[in-house]
Amino acid sequence: MPMSNMNPISLFFLELLLIGLTAPQFIADDGNHQQFVYSGFANAIFTVDGTASVTPSGLLELTNGTAMSKGHAFYPTPLHLRGSPNGTIQSFSASFVFGIISVYNLSSHGLTMLIAPSKDFSGANPVQYLGLVNGSNNGNTTNHIFAVELDTWQNPEFGDINNNHVGIDINGLNSVQSHTGGFFHDQNGTFKNLTLSSQEAMQVWVDYDREKMQINVTMATLDMATKPKRPTVSTRYNLSDVLNDVAYIGFSSSTGKINTHHYVLGWSFAINGPAPAINLTMLPKLPRHHPKDHRSWVLEIVLPIATAVVLLSLGAIAFFLVRRHFRYAEVQDDWEVEFGPHRFSYKDLYHATEGFEDKNLLGVGGFGRVYKGVLPGSRLKIAVKRVSHDSKQGMKEFIAEIVSIGRLQNRNLVQLLGYCRRKGELILVYEHMPNGSLDKYLYGKEETSVLSWAQRFWIIKGIASGLLYLHEEWEKVVVHRDIKASNVLLDDKMNGRLGDFGLARLYDHGIDPQTTDVVGTIGYLAPELARSGNATPPTDVFAFGMFILEVTCGQRPVNHQNTEDNQLILVDWVIDKVQKGAFSDTLDPRLRGSYDVGEACLALTIGILCSHPFAKARPTMRQVMQYLDGEIEPPELSFEMLALMQNEEFEPYIMSYPMSTTSIATMPHLSGGR
Ligand SMILES: Nc1ncnc2c1ncn2[C@@H]1O[C@H](COP(=O)(O)OP(=O)(O)O)[C@@H](O)[C@H]1O
Ligand SMILES: *[C@@H]1O[C@H](CO)[C@@H](O)[C@H](O)[C@H]1NC(C)=O
Ligand SMILES: *[C@@H]1O[C@H](CO)[C@@H](O)[C@H](O)[C@H]1NC(C)=O
Ligand SMILES: *[C@@H]1O[C@H](CO)[C@@H](O)[C@H](O)[C@H]1NC(C)=O
Ligand SMILES: *[C@@H]1O[C@H](CO)[C@@H](O)[C@H](O)[C@H]1NC(C)=O
Ligand SMILES: *[C@@H]1O[C@H](CO)[C@@H](O)[C@H](O)[C@H]1NC(C)=O
Ligand SMILES: *[C@@H]1O[C@H](CO)[C@@H](O)[C@H](O)[C@H]1NC(C)=O
Ligand SMILES: *[C@@H]1O[C@H](CO)[C@@H](O)[C@H](O)[C@H]1NC(C)=O
Ligand SMILES: *[C@@H]1O[C@H](CO)[C@@H](O)[C@H](O)[C@H]1NC(C)=O
Ligand SMILES: *[C@@H]1O[C@H](CO)[C@@H](O)[C@H](O)[C@H]1NC(C)=O
Ligand SMILES: *[C@@H]1O[C@H](CO)[C@@H](O)[C@H](O)[C@H]1NC(C)=O
Repeated sequence: MPMSNMNPISLFFLELLLIGLTAPQFIADDGNHQQFVYSGFANAIFTVDGTASVTPSGLLELTNGTAMSKGHAFYPTPLHLRGSPNGTIQSFSASFVFGIISVYNLSSHGLTMLIAPSKDFSGANPVQYLGLVNGSNNGNTTNHIFAVELDTWQNPEFGDINNNHVGIDINGLNSVQSHTGGFFHDQNGTFKNLTLSSQEAMQVWVDYDREKMQINVTMATLDMATKPKRPTVSTRYNLSDVLNDVAYIGFSSSTGKINTHHYVLGWSFAINGPAPAINLTMLPKLPRHHPKDHRSWVLEIVLPIATAVVLLSLGAIAFFLVRRHFRYAEVQDDWEVEFGPHRFSYKDLYHATEGFEDKNLLGVGGFGRVYKGVLPGSRLKIAVKRVSHDSKQGMKEFIAEIVSIGRLQNRNLVQLLGYCRRKGELILVYEHMPNGSLDKYLYGKEETSVLSWAQRFWIIKGIASGLLYLHEEWEKVVVHRDIKASNVLLDDKMNGRLGDFGLARLYDHGIDPQTTDVVGTIGYLAPELARSGNATPPTDVFAFGMFILEVTCGQRPVNHQNTEDNQLILVDWVIDKVQKGAFSDTLDPRLRGSYDVGEACLALTIGILCSHPFAKARPTMRQVMQYLDGEIEPPELSFEMLALMQNEEFEPYIMSYPMSTTSIATMPHLSGGR
């Protein structure tokens, strides 16, 4: 046990204490020279509770920075304050060095040195009660407590004079006498304020004079050589009325919400004599800018908030990442690298369409929903088509097609901008056509949307030109396979544009397509296509013929309106009328007879020519273009030809299909390969 911190007297008493472990009384027989001195508390044995402890550096730490806490430390053995059981309280002197450390000069709440009949202060309260009393026993004479308070908080309920005072307390916190912390200069008697929570160690003397029943409390800074002559606070009080003979001496302290450490660095006591001098040079160092303070300040306030913020942020980020992962999840394969520029991120498309909001729905086609959108960066208006599929098979070829189709550029084609893949879904991105699809104008209810003949003829020419480009003018032959009014979209200048390349397939020039899939729409299907399933440019021409008749007559290729003529097939009905020389009957009544007769006649003729049941008898798109431009006269519609067309057996074939204009959904690559 290192004794270096204690002078010989305390060493003597410590020995007594050790011996006293067998004999409970450590004090000498006469009871008049009880004293001790600690210049630092290394290895001192005290009775402590709460937050109090002796630190390894030899400080008695009463409170450790924990908020709303209290701590007590008592000299373990009792004092005998009266010379004899019925005598009065003897004179005594105590001195101690304390330090209050808080992060700011604000601190809570304070400490006391006290003499009490018991070491059990478990009933006392922290905060403003300083661990000394509680609300119910404050001031009760049965407490038998004498204390000197060093209070850094002004509590009006105890009559505190300010937030930095020294008080003499009897049985409670309503001080008998108190004074601002500080001392009177010996030389000129002026008072020097000292801030109790100044982070500086300061010394306090407590003296009681038995005869004068006077209590003096004196404060000083450590650098002062001697104890000031005039006490900081002094009062007359007969402690014999207060204290019991057997009493314990110790400290109490408490904290409120402000993180504060209360320390005692040295302590001495004597009965009937001056308190032994504390050897100030041996005192442990007060933690100056207490690292714990900062840490605990950080730990208790900043860190939890920061941690919470960080955790919340991480949680939010994780949430958004996970949500984003699922919301924007895509499927991407290695082979797609080469198609990179044509690939859109799902996120962009999601934002472009405002999360595929219903209000942005343009229409629902045979393969899925089409949404309007605006690309985030370029502000480019797009139409986004979501096609569900459940197979990866053939996807590579299909994407390759899409990308090569994306290279097609013609003013009569709807530009395919790119694609995106998700699980079970393919998303195609087209340029947006502000005026929508042609069928709305042909069959729409509103009178205002009726197209004039000039507009119709312009659209027919445009589609012919677009189809010619697909068939002959690009490096590969592209068969559209699904020409119909609903796949013709109108741009801002009411130009007809061929859209929906989802079904288009590519064939190298001269290579016969090797497919058995029937693709197209009832009424537009060439007879040989229905039989063999081979989509070729002539099957497109057939469908185009139907399309011309549709636009000219304002009727669907297979319609239900002309049942009085018993002709469900538009082309048969037109041929019937033409044979009867009543060609003008066939024109769309919504035109109200306002049309160019020559052009209308030409359109009907081309429509019929293209609808020839024999593929070889149909004109090519180049010829159609020449007819439409007036460069070449189309061949006469011979009676034999018309008769042949009417007798042809394709009619029952079409009849065997349900009457509808929806596509036969056999998109080979999307539904599971060939
Ligand atoms: N590029 C586009 N611009 C504007 N509207 C479009 C575009 N593509 C499709 N639409 C609209 O979405 C609807 C459905 O399109 P689509 O799936 O191509 O129909 P379908 O499968 O019947 O051919 C069309 O009727 C049209 O109104
Ligand atoms: C303060 O003391 C209490 C009681 O001993 C303890 O539970 C707490 O952890 C201590 N706090 C610090 C910061 O040391
Ligand atoms: C102390 O006082 C009590 C009663 O007050 C008395 O009975 C006792 O004898 C006294 N003792 C001495 C030593 O005077
Ligand atoms: C506390 O600190 C502030 C600023 O640091 C100062 O103005 C104030 O006087 C100080 N109060 C005491 C009691 O030392
Ligand atoms: C107040 O303190 C006294 C003495 O410690 C104790 O007996 C009592 O129970 C306490 N009262 C309350 C309300 O804590
Ligand atoms: C003082 O305390 C005692 C016992 O603890 C109790 O009987 C008494 O009523 C209290 N007095 C006051 C004024 O509270
Ligand atoms: C009083 O004396 C002290 C110490 O000598 C000195 O620091 C202080 O300024 C003096 N005050 C007055 C008002 O003279
Ligand atoms: C000392 O403190 C008291 C109370 O806070 C104040 O009224 C007084 O002005 C202070 N004196 C000096 C010299 O600061
Ligand atoms: C208290 O202080 C006064 C001077 O103000 C002094 O005369 C008296 O002796 C002191 N009493 C004690 C017990 O120190
Ligand atoms: C102080 O109190 C004690 C006991 O209550 C009493 O015997 C003594 O006479 C008192 N002293 C004075 C000077 O009144
Ligand atoms: C205080 O302690 C130091 C170091 O142990 C020692 O040199 C000095 O003599 C002591 N002073 C007194 C007054 O005991």
